[in-house]
Amino acid sequence: MNYFISQFGNPTGTFGKFLSRIMNLSNKKMYKANMAKLRDNMYIFEIGYGNGRQLELIKKNRTSVQLHGIDISGDMHDAASKRLGEDAVLSIADAVKIPYEDSFFDAVITTDTFYFWERPEQVLSEIKRVLKNKGIFVNSYNTMYASSVGKARKDKGLFKAEELIKEAEKAGLKCIYQKKLGIFEKQIVFSFDIQTPK
Ligand SMILES: C[S@@+](CC[C@H](N)C(=O)[O-])C[C@H]1O[C@@H](n2cnc3c(N)ncnc32)[C@H](O)[C@@H]1O
Repeated sequence: MNYFISQFGNPTGTFGKFLSRIMNLSNKKMYKANMAKLRDNMYIFEIGYGNGRQLELIKKNRTSVQLHGIDISGDMHDAASKRLGEDAVLSIADAVKIPYEDSFFDAVITTDTFYFWERPEQVLSEIKRVLKNKGIFVNSYNTMYASSVGKARKDKGLFKAEELIKEAEKAGLKCIYQKKLGIFEKQIVFSFDIQTPK
């Protein structure tokens, strides 16, 4: 992967912090669309929280939510911890092994991350595992970024909504909502619920 793309997948140093601010601007519509699926009092988990902007918005707009998240970047962990303080429980971890017990969350959210996952099938099964029975998984992504990452990555991965939906079904998550955002419809938000009750 080239330097620019690998910085999106694991933002590091001053340039990584700068990119994370650019992402905040370009991902605004997706944060809003994700938020529409979240309710007060939920236990919410974000995969790849970046600099923590999306969790901060959720804290401002939803009451009594419990916010948790993981990111693989130590620098993003520092930036998000500074932004959120005690408002969220944040750790550095890979979504391939989510450090929470079964059926812990009402919602798992992620924005612009799934096309970086090394083992997407394993991540999806982890998402299903940590969700409660009526839990939801809300995913949004930018199709342009995903296709650039797809071209740059030579290894296995998922780079399109259809591929993610198919893989999620295998993990027991059913797509129940899908919407294209923006004038050019380059961003997509979709949500899943649990197909087979545990
Ligand atoms: C393109 S950035 C998006 C950041 C944030 N979601 C936003 O919208 O601003 C992707 C983020 O996902 C994180 N990430 C990538 N792969 C991950 C994985 N396997 N587990 C956890 N976090 C991951 C990266 O470190 C980075 O912060």
